[in-house]
Amino acid sequence: MRAVDIIMKKRDGGELSREEIAAIVNGYVSGEVPEYQVSAWLMAVFFRGMSFRETADLTDLMLRSGSTMDLSGIAGPFVDKHSTGGVGDKVSLILAPIVAACGVRVPMMSGRALGHTGGTLDKLESIPGYTTRLDEKRFREYIERDGFAMTGQTDAIVPADKRLYSLRDVTATVESVPLITASILSKKVAEGAEALVFDVKSGPGAFMKTVEDAERLASSLVRTGQAMGKRIVGVITDMTEPLGDKVGNFLEVEESIDCLRGEGPADLMEVTYRLSAWMLVAGGVAGDVGSATAMCEEAVASGRAYRLFERNVRTQGGDVEKMLSLYSNYRSGHSRELRAPEAGFIRSIDAFKIGLAGVYLGVGRNKTSDPVAPDVGFVFERKKGARVAAGDLVATVYGKDAASLDAAWDLVSGALSVGPAPEAATSLIVKEITAL
Ligand code: URA
Repeated sequence: MRAVDIIMKKRDGGELSREEIAAIVNGYVSGEVPEYQVSAWLMAVFFRGMSFRETADLTDLMLRSGSTMDLSGIAGPFVDKHSTGGVGDKVSLILAPIVAACGVRVPMMSGRALGHTGGTLDKLESIPGYTTRLDEKRFREYIERDGFAMTGQTDAIVPADKRLYSLRDVTATVESVPLITASILSKKVAEGAEALVFDVKSGPGAFMKTVEDAERLASSLVRTGQAMGKRIVGVITDMTEPLGDKVGNFLEVEESIDCLRGEGPADLMEVTYRLSAWMLVAGGVAGDVGSATAMCEEAVASGRAYRLFERNVRTQGGDVEKMLSLYSNYRSGHSRELRAPEAGFIRSIDAFKIGLAGVYLGVGRNKTSDPVAPDVGFVFERKKGARVAAGDLVATVYGKDAASLDAAWDLVSGALSVGPAPEAATSLIVKEITAL
């Protein structure tokens, strides 16, 4: 089978057989198919798309390119959540202890900040001592003991995705529904969960800018995941504004602590409770989202979820006392205030601009090797819908140095829009697709 014939077939709109997809994916991993041919194949897939069957075969072949986590011997149910990436999205830090406190085990494998979106691993690593590098033995042990564990993807898990994702990144082929589906799903299936809840973000601060595109991705994830024998829920949530009142690394740990103590902002808690509730339903410990939400609220109100969070921090090497002593004062010395330019109502705070500004400030990174800073980001005092007088404080912005604040400032001030009338409040939960 010649790679050029497979590329040609896809270029001309043909449907590839499993063997043809395997020839490209396995050939790339083994070094037999060169990068320039894989790049051409990716571009052909980008333009021609893939049928549902091709997407499922690609996902399965990618999954089989590496090893999978073995959670056998530990009592389940095992359910994980994955977000397609947003700004201020610290839901994983809050949700994992809530869901674990309700009797569902969460084997959570997360990523790092890239582009304008933040990364769970970077946030967790801003806690002094916390490690996100767990080998399989420790991952299993911690899940069994604490109900959840937080780790990064190991080299052994889906090596095909590591290589394909880097190639997609530099060949402008990231935004393809079948390629995203196979990339995300192969990694999630590899970590051993029986059921998965996807938070597919939609809006300016998301990968998928429109609800229609988010819906296409959510449907593809749900349908393909179901074909792989998993129970799946896809929740489309709005990512027009940053989620919550804090954006950063340690700043988001702080806000997660607030949420777990029952003092979280309404927008963040709405998304967290909804995703957590679906995890309980998908795990079979609740019959419907209404009763599941009540269980999650009780886990927070009773303090059980917060205690599990502290326990996980200790388990993964973090210094809880130091973390609490840094709470509300782990801030870079370089800051600037964003103030309302005129009187009126805040119409929007553009999540994409805030996320991009965050890269200059040191919250995020441009390439995987860039370092991130723990003590930078945004603390919002007012968000969408708030009435403001000219000069009112909207946010305090922390940068790694004065130059980073200068570089970020056009984006920061351009993110704020104030108008004469308030925007109508809308729910952040846009749509749900279930296959349970
Ligand atoms: N996240 C992934 O893991 N893969 C993609 O293709 C896009 C987002």
